[in-house]
Amino acid sequence: MAPLAPLDPLASKRRKMMKFLAYIGPFAVFQVIAILLFALVVMRVRTPKFRVSDGIAIHGLDRKNSPAASFDVNFTAPVRIKNTNFGPYKYDAATVIFTHGGVEVGQAAIPKGKANLKSTKKVNVAVTVNSSAVAGNSSSSLGSELSSGVLTLNSRGRLNGKVELMFIFKKKKSTDMNCSISISMASKAVQSVRCE
Ligand SMILES: *[C@@H]1O[C@H](CO)[C@@H](O)[C@H](O)[C@H]1NC(C)=O
Ligand SMILES: *[C@@H]1O[C@H](CO)[C@@H](O)[C@H](O)[C@H]1NC(C)=O
Ligand SMILES: *[C@@H]1O[C@H](CO)[C@@H](O)[C@H](O)[C@H]1NC(C)=O
Ligand SMILES: *[C@@H]1O[C@H](CO)[C@@H](O)[C@H](O)[C@H]1NC(C)=O
Repeated sequence: MAPLAPLDPLASKRRKMMKFLAYIGPFAVFQVIAILLFALVVMRVRTPKFRVSDGIAIHGLDRKNSPAASFDVNFTAPVRIKNTNFGPYKYDAATVIFTHGGVEVGQAAIPKGKANLKSTKKVNVAVTVNSSAVAGNSSSSLGSELSSGVLTLNSRGRLNGKVELMFIFKKKKSTDMNCSISISMASKAVQSVRCE
């Protein structure tokens, strides 16, 4: 048997180091990816959505074209707070204002509450709107809207609250509602709800 060539101690050290890097390298890359994903997906704070969804139920609707154009509508509005964060969104009590042609015709109160992580909080609010604030405004489009058979209302509101992440980080987040609701006078039903 030929004698073994003497091992170069430096080469052996280098081999050991390469072996170590081969083990640790993929692990380090995995760690960096995990941390990036955590920072970009889990810790990112998204603005919750605050809107009126489809499914408004009209309970009562009166309208007159003479002597003056007027309306009186009662309905239940399904308000939704959609929270796509990886943590709950806690919000303060708020008011949703319903307007016609920029004039306030009714309000609804949203009680203080919480939308859980990755879920939608459902709040059904009773709304009564009438044209008493619009009556006598000759520049209002109410008369022509009522004779065309479609009444358009706008709903606005702002929720102020906090998104909580990992049970400790809290980030203030506000969200605005801006919806347009078209109500068919003839069928006494909601034609469309569009939110920004
Ligand atoms: C709407 O509700 C109010 C108060 O509950 C009531 O006075 C009014 O008559 C209702 N209007 C219609 C059209 O049902
Ligand atoms: C009258 O109606 C117009 C158009 O809808 C609106 O811009 C204006 O603010 C109203 N005026 C009053 C006094 O409500
Ligand atoms: C019309 O709405 C106002 C508030 O916007 C309210 O004070 C009034 O009682 C309502 N009128 C009727 C007839 O429901
Ligand atoms: C609300 O939405 C309407 C369009 O539907 C848009 O013209 C208006 O500027 C929006 N208002 C706010 C305050 O964002």
